[in-house]
Amino acid sequence: MDMQAMKILAFELMGGKSSHAFKDRGNKYYHGERVAALALRLRELILPGDGSQDEILTAAAWFHDVMNGHEKHAEKGAEKAREVLMPYCTAQELDAICEIIGVHDDRSSGRVNFSPYVRLHQDADHLDHFGTYDILMCFLYAASRGESIIDTRDWLQNGRPRENERYRAELNFELSRKIFDEKTAFLNYFTERFCVESAGGIWDEERFSRAAFAATVHTTAAAQRSGTRRNSATEESPVLGVSSRGGGS
Ligand SMILES: [Fe+2]
Ligand SMILES: [Fe+2]
Repeated sequence: MDMQAMKILAFELMGGKSSHAFKDRGNKYYHGERVAALALRLRELILPGDGSQDEILTAAAWFHDVMNGHEKHAEKGAEKAREVLMPYCTAQELDAICEIIGVHDDRSSGRVNFSPYVRLHQDADHLDHFGTYDILMCFLYAASRGESIIDTRDWLQNGRPRENERYRAELNFELSRKIFDEKTAFLNYFTERFCVESAGGIWDEERFSRAAFAATVHTTAAAQRSGTRRNSATEESPVLGVSSRGGGS
């Protein structure tokens, strides 16, 4: 397969546009790149020693959303891929790539009948939407709809968590579910902190309470009395507990 030519073609088709008005330029090109990397990483962890389909997984990931934004984008994407990739691979390779693209969004109960490579792709595709990317999309969407920070806070706190169970059930492998759970924990942490800071609060405020402050000052003074030499450039701030190099405004 001519991977380099296919990568260039993927960029030509998707690199300069967005699948939806509120999303970033080239979103489906960069999503395809990430899904390819993630699919290979999952493959190494779930099917170690079987690199036989790595190029197929890579090419399928690059082009799987080439028709995203259109109805039946998976089916239409497989048709488009068949049309544009023909010069760069054999008929057999093209069939394998289009098999993945054509069903990549089918997460119904029949998934167990799909090949392990289809299911690896599906999990990589799905997982890419969570974690930090979930947060990016949340704010891009909110801004495009003219929503307030209160609306966003409400979505993160009350709306988004309702989707977790369904999203998790759509994954094929136990490892993918574990990765999803870690991403969910990260989003929960972000949401809790966002709720505090977007209401003018101080995150982890007890750290800066009078007692904690006094204890830090006492410890610092005791260390100085005992003759401990410190490099002033790396000394911790008794108030914030962070390096004095951090500066600030
Ligand atoms: Fe898709
Ligand atoms: Fe996708």
